[in-house]
Amino acid sequence: MCRRRAGPCPRTGDPVDDYAAVYRRSLEAPEEFWAEAARSLAWDRPPRQVLDGAGAPYHRWFPDGWLNTCYNAVDRHVESGCADRVALLYDSPVTGVKRSHTYAELRDQVARFAGVLRGLGVRRGDRVVLYMPMVPQAVITMLACARIGAVHSVVFGGFAARELATRIADARPKVVVYGSCGVEPQRIVPYQPVLDEALRSLRLRPRVVVLQRPQCRAEVRPGELDWEAAVAAAQAVDCVPLPATDPLYVLYTSGTTGGPKGVVRDNGGHAVALAWSMRHVYDIEGGQVWWAASDIGWVVGHSYVVYAPLLVGATTVIYEGKPVGTPDAGALWRVVAEHGVAGMFAAPTALRAVRQADPAGRLARSRDLTSLRNLFVAGERLDPATHRWASDLLRVPVVDHWWQTETGWPICAGLRGLGDRPLKPGSPGLAVPGFDVRILDDHGNPAAPGSEGAICLRPPLPPGTLTGVWGEERRYVEAAPHPCAGHYLTGDSGYVDDEGYVYVMGRTDDVINVAGHRLSTGAMEAAVGAHPDVAECAVIGVRDELKGQVPRALVVLKAGATEDLGRLRADLVTRVREHVGPIASLKRVDVVNRLPKTRSGKILRRAMRGIADGREEPVPATIEDPEVLENLRSILWSS
Ligand code: COA
Ligand code: AMP
Repeated sequence: MCRRRAGPCPRTGDPVDDYAAVYRRSLEAPEEFWAEAARSLAWDRPPRQVLDGAGAPYHRWFPDGWLNTCYNAVDRHVESGCADRVALLYDSPVTGVKRSHTYAELRDQVARFAGVLRGLGVRRGDRVVLYMPMVPQAVITMLACARIGAVHSVVFGGFAARELATRIADARPKVVVYGSCGVEPQRIVPYQPVLDEALRSLRLRPRVVVLQRPQCRAEVRPGELDWEAAVAAAQAVDCVPLPATDPLYVLYTSGTTGGPKGVVRDNGGHAVALAWSMRHVYDIEGGQVWWAASDIGWVVGHSYVVYAPLLVGATTVIYEGKPVGTPDAGALWRVVAEHGVAGMFAAPTALRAVRQADPAGRLARSRDLTSLRNLFVAGERLDPATHRWASDLLRVPVVDHWWQTETGWPICAGLRGLGDRPLKPGSPGLAVPGFDVRILDDHGNPAAPGSEGAICLRPPLPPGTLTGVWGEERRYVEAAPHPCAGHYLTGDSGYVDDEGYVYVMGRTDDVINVAGHRLSTGAMEAAVGAHPDVAECAVIGVRDELKGQVPRALVVLKAGATEDLGRLRADLVTRVREHVGPIASLKRVDVVNRLPKTRSGKILRRAMRGIADGREEPVPATIEDPEVLENLRSILWSS
């Protein structure tokens, strides 16, 4: 097969179009629109068909095209004269290491690690699970999988053994690649005991590769490979042409049920959409420095630490540190100034943490931040106070945008590379081209302008969005309750104003967002409810000044349970830490006599959450005993 080589390093400097016209065209002529966007990539076999709706509601983009994502993200830039351009800038205040990799160095390391995976028998379609901290080798592993058509599945390092085990059990990887430890500001987190515990509970025995870190080495057991030694001995492997519809990765996220769901992303649609977004949403092109301050374990890390910046030939910063405490609240500004970051992406909670520690922005003012053109935020609601604070301090547009793991890239945004529409505080902006955003009421009818309803997306979803749920092809359909059937239900509620700006008000399900991390209260309830003294429980997400939301548990005890409530509370907090992970940040447990329910036994979590947040939510007429809810008011109000 003949690979169509790209010309010089991709630049995307054609004139900026008007938003309204571009948006309209993306919905009226999606095939033409995305065919044009696809031309920015190098294809082994350019697609003749753009959209295949046969498997609706999952549409397949570029079904007869062939390409390789790793080739487009790495090799193409080397071959077109950008071999010496920096691809990765690793900046790790927690270990004191800073290192850069040019595109040529990245290609060589990825090709060799692909050789290691090949040597372990990994073939096209096999899964590889990564349990790694924010180090360049994590990016190299992801790209090595892409190079040979293996499907990676990255598990965030802050998840405990049980969460890791659930993901391994579902993905059934041939190989697990892990780092010997994560480095948190106050402690080293050894990963081997977590992986051991996860694998002990499963009957799977994947091959294991360990990346040794000097802070805490793991024991390399018989049959396991040491990363460095394996790479030194490996043969470089070339990119394999793949059908555009082949899966690139599976990323697990919290759903409405306790179990995580594996969002599947393809190769072709993903590469086309991300490259398009880099220019039109983020206004970044080849040669510029871009920093998404997220972990690779989340979708932001996949899309905007790894793939999107590399697809356009930019330099991406891999940051292993926190916004505060590594060493201080000036860390974000140091990285921007030191590396000349042009565009940055952070979670609102990170900005709130910095603001709390340095309200006057003294540490930002002492830096030269003139390289920065835009600060993007997403992951949770950007509160207007933080928006104002960051805008006043940085004097650049602070751009809220809204999306989720399932969509892989922004649904609504202030599109910085597509005209100059004003930003409205409180709104994540306008619908991004390709996304047909609809607000539907409880009966599935379009909500009146300005009225709140379920935010839905009318198919076809654009390229780059989920192509399925791993192992559960029908889940997308079943997840949509009857009134919204035929639409993709985002799980968020909100409204659109008369200028088309979308306002996202919060989740309609039991998913919560703790410090920008999406978590399931169901998983926490499972951990709390399994305690021998607990008869039943509810975990709800309540508003928090710093983290946006934090979980709070209400438990009903069994007759004859312990009277040492202090001890019980501490046990439950530890359980959630051990079963879900420290990031769940459960701190508050209240023992109550009864939980409010409907007559059919459904716990009224939404009503409790409303009271805790000082908001009156409608209470269903089917409530079993209104007094139970009334009696909880004082507990829910107390902080
Ligand atoms: N591996 C192991 N443990 C981890 C971890 C990881 N990768 N990430 C977090 N943890 C642990 C922390 O050490 C902490 O443990 P502790 O309870 O023993 O102190 C716990 O999980 C909670 O961590 P965190 O959520 O980071 O809270 P914090 O109070 O330490 O810090 C913030 C608060 C706001 C600074 C922090 O949450 C933050 O940086 N948030 C931004 C997150 C982000 O960028 N999200 C974007 C996703 S799009
Ligand atoms: P995740 O899949 O982890 O990216 O989480 C997605 C969810 O986070 C969304 O469904 C929203 O509930 C929330 N979210 C993400 N970005 C925003 C935003 N800009 N404003 C409000 N909520 C957001």
